[in-house]
Amino acid sequence: MRVLSGIQPSGKLHIGNYFGMMRPALELADQGDAFLFIANYHALTTVHHAEQLRAATLDVALDFLACGLDPKKTTFYRQSDVPEVTELTWLLSVVEPMSRMELATSYKDKVAKGIGASLGLFSYPMLMAADILAVQSDVVPVGRDQKQHVEMARDVATRFNETFAPVFKLPKASIRDEVAVVPGVDGQKMSKSYNNTIEIFGAAKDVRSRIMKIVTDSKGLADAKDPDADNVFALYKLFASPAQRDEMAGRYRAGGFGYGDAKRALAEILEAHFAPMRARREELARNLDYVEGVLRDGARRAREVVGRTLSDARKAVGLE
Ligand code: ADP
Ligand code: TRP
Repeated sequence: MRVLSGIQPSGKLHIGNYFGMMRPALELADQGDAFLFIANYHALTTVHHAEQLRAATLDVALDFLACGLDPKKTTFYRQSDVPEVTELTWLLSVVEPMSRMELATSYKDKVAKGIGASLGLFSYPMLMAADILAVQSDVVPVGRDQKQHVEMARDVATRFNETFAPVFKLPKASIRDEVAVVPGVDGQKMSKSYNNTIEIFGAAKDVRSRIMKIVTDSKGLADAKDPDADNVFALYKLFASPAQRDEMAGRYRAGGFGYGDAKRALAEILEAHFAPMRARREELARNLDYVEGVLRDGARRAREVVGRTLSDARKAVGLE
């Protein structure tokens, strides 16, 4: 089973990214042959400062390695170090109907949020399809908001195979229901673009102050509370063992346990969860040559696979 996923270096990674994509991807990577990459070409649709893009790319590399990515098992690379994907994007674009592209919701959502409506932003799903199809992946672990893009990859692969020759495997999204949408501090989907995130490796005091801002209802300390209707509990249970989760739910229902108490419990469990990764990240940040070496080696391995697919696609269309 070949697994592939990517993440854009467009801001600091948050616990929605961690539970929705990073952890499922790292777990799947343990079971199969995995490719994980930093989607810096994609990030160019929104980030137009060279230094910011470079810094965010390095941050994502450190985050993944700190969170347990094993570069011996997983091919880990920067998208731009495998430029063949941009050529493949073109070969896919010529069989993708405009009418299909116009159904993509993420483009409309991003434009509605004020992101410039560039051609790159519009054609983004074809670049993503190229990432996925270039390595012949079977499974693509992502959060729910990316499902449509994986379906578009599958769809364009079918069109290409039928129009020219069977070059591509048909990929499938893998979405974990329980973490498909991690809520942000305002209760909406946690997202870099909503300013409602809790960063994975933010400064401890910033993380605490974000947690204290989580929106709750107005029940008082003494009142019994419904854990399943509360954002703090929704986040707590992501970190908790089943026993810790049941105990916390019991405290909510019993009353005499306030939202402030719940927030402090969330801050503690979160800090304990990320503490070893934070230490590892600091160590990696002192060894940037090692990190660069990992990414170069990953790109070399990815290019071998991608090069074969591209060559098959070029032959199929008559460029070779
Ligand atoms: P953001 O919305 O913060 O810009 P991205 O779109 O870069 O995040 O998402 C990167 C990955 O993390 C994708 O696979 C996405 O589905 C997942 N993801 C992002 N936010 C969440 C969330 N709140 N819950 C679950 N998964 C998420
Ligand atoms: N579009 C994805 C996101 O915003 C990132 C991405 C780019 C990706 N290419 C991919 C994810 C290929 C999975 C597979 O999160």
